[in-house]
Amino acid sequence: MRLLLAALVLVAAQPAFAQGKQRDLILQCMACHGDDGIAKDKDVPHLAGQNYEYLLNQMKAFQSGKRPHKEMKVMSRRMDESEMAEIADYYAALPRQPK
Ligand code: HEC
Repeated sequence: MRLLLAALVLVAAQPAFAQGKQRDLILQCMACHGDDGIAKDKDVPHLAGQNYEYLLNQMKAFQSGKRPHKEMKVMSRRMDESEMAEIADYYAALPRQPK
């Protein structure tokens, strides 16, 4: 029991690496945009292979409300600009849907 507690304290004391945080952010996107950036629902756009600038601009537009969309407004609320840049980088690097 004491060992378990020690392990828990150790885990909690780990610094929040940007990598892990980034992965958490993207995990939340997968539910709608698909594991590989290819959305399964017909009303959700694919993100894989999309242009970096476009992705970044859309996330900013959702956050500011310039592009209105309820879910995406909520999703973009907690992101800062460097996180948006990393997300855009991630999706832009994924392969597009095979045709
Ligand atoms: C609840 C479902 C849902 C979740 C979760 C979600 N999205 Fe979306 N996303 C959508 C829908 C639906 C649209 C299309 C919006 C519209 O119709 O204008 C969209 C649009 C986008 C677009 C614009 C794509 C384009 O082609 O214009 C980007 C970029 C995007 N989402 C990024 C993200 C990121 C990054 C996350 C995770 C942080 C995320 N989304 C999480 C549903 C979701």
